[in-house]
Amino acid sequence: MGVSNVDGVNTASCGAAGSTGHGRTVCVTGAGGFIASWLVKLLLEKGYTVRGTVRNPDDVAKNAHLTALDGAAERLSLFRADLLDQESLAAAFRGCEGVFHTACPVTEDPEKLIEPAVNGTRNVLNAAADVGGIRRVVMTSSIGAVYMNSGNRAGEADETCWSDLQYCKDTKNWYCYAKTIAEQTAWSLAAARHLDLVVINPSLVLGPLLQPAVNASTTHIAKYLDGSVKTYYANAAQAYAHVRDVADAHARAYETPDASGRYLCAGETVHRAEVCRILGKLFPEYPVPTKCKGGEGELKKGCRFSNRRLKELGVGVTPTSQCLYETVTSLQDKGLLPKPQAHAW
Ligand SMILES: NC(=O)c1ccc[n+]([C@@H]2O[C@H](COP(=O)([O-])OP(=O)(O)OC[C@H]3O[C@@H](n4cnc5c(N)ncnc54)[C@H](OP(=O)(O)O)[C@@H]3O)[C@@H](O)[C@H]2O)c1
Repeated sequence: MGVSNVDGVNTASCGAAGSTGHGRTVCVTGAGGFIASWLVKLLLEKGYTVRGTVRNPDDVAKNAHLTALDGAAERLSLFRADLLDQESLAAAFRGCEGVFHTACPVTEDPEKLIEPAVNGTRNVLNAAADVGGIRRVVMTSSIGAVYMNSGNRAGEADETCWSDLQYCKDTKNWYCYAKTIAEQTAWSLAAARHLDLVVINPSLVLGPLLQPAVNASTTHIAKYLDGSVKTYYANAAQAYAHVRDVADAHARAYETPDASGRYLCAGETVHRAEVCRILGKLFPEYPVPTKCKGGEGELKKGCRFSNRRLKELGVGVTPTSQCLYETVTSLQDKGLLPKPQAHAW
């Protein structure tokens, strides 16, 4: 039974997942990641036999959140694989009927990002085609591959929109640059190698963590509570997605026979001032910023994202306040957010 909180936050957990995966084997790349571990959890709940690729299956502590999942002892196996080693991926995919490609470094450092994002995606698609028998590949792209161009940033973006590579380069948005090339690579290889590909493009993903350490998108929220950020920017607006909705979108994209193309997975676009207002109201014990950097000028509206196709797929869109609430309480539960200290504001 859920408990209501301020701003309509509900603390209920998601419902039963059904049993559509019995007798079916699928692989999830980068299984230990924030999104992937929720996807592995959901696939196990649905009865799938799951192979998860990780870079170090011998790291018991790092993988404990996967091995502890219900059904893991019977139906989860971890495979050592690196995105830059196609044969390691093929070894994990052989005998599977589906591949979920979620692995990718989430960083703005082009040196660490571009090669695994792009060549890694190429290796995943080629490995999936080489082993044969893969019914569908579902890839985790990003809205970073959708909206990052000078024209779209203020309007509504849908699945027909693509980020402008030159604009990404000029503005040093390397994450958007890499995700755009990676997704374009996936589409062209899928066509060339006759693979059925469906792509999920999430916005910034929040919600409870299964993995032991913070990831890039949950750090984004932690910094507004731990005192490290004193102000928010007037030109900062963002759409958020709940990690369970994102996992659900992947599973439905795999299981829905006529799913195709791209599915944006994003809630409403919210200005950082509103994010801070919600955080401050939900968690008044933390020094959440109340001031805008650069004065009280006009707040940027930000790009909005169509979730028409997502809703057609049957995926819910959790309200932003709920995403924020569950992120913070999870960070607290895991000891990843310092206890608030006495502060003056
Ligand atoms: N979180 C978001 O807000 C968000 C939004 C839109 C799209 N996405 C996309 O969603 C996917 C997952 O993101 P996340 O937030 O869950 O990230 P995450 O928690 O940082 O997980 C990333 C995963 O990628 C794996 N990985 C990185 N480099 C690799 C390599 N060379 N070979 C094999 N595995 C590698 C990591 O493995 P190790 O554990 O071994 O490092 C990790 O499991 C990414 O494709 C990301 O671009 C994320």
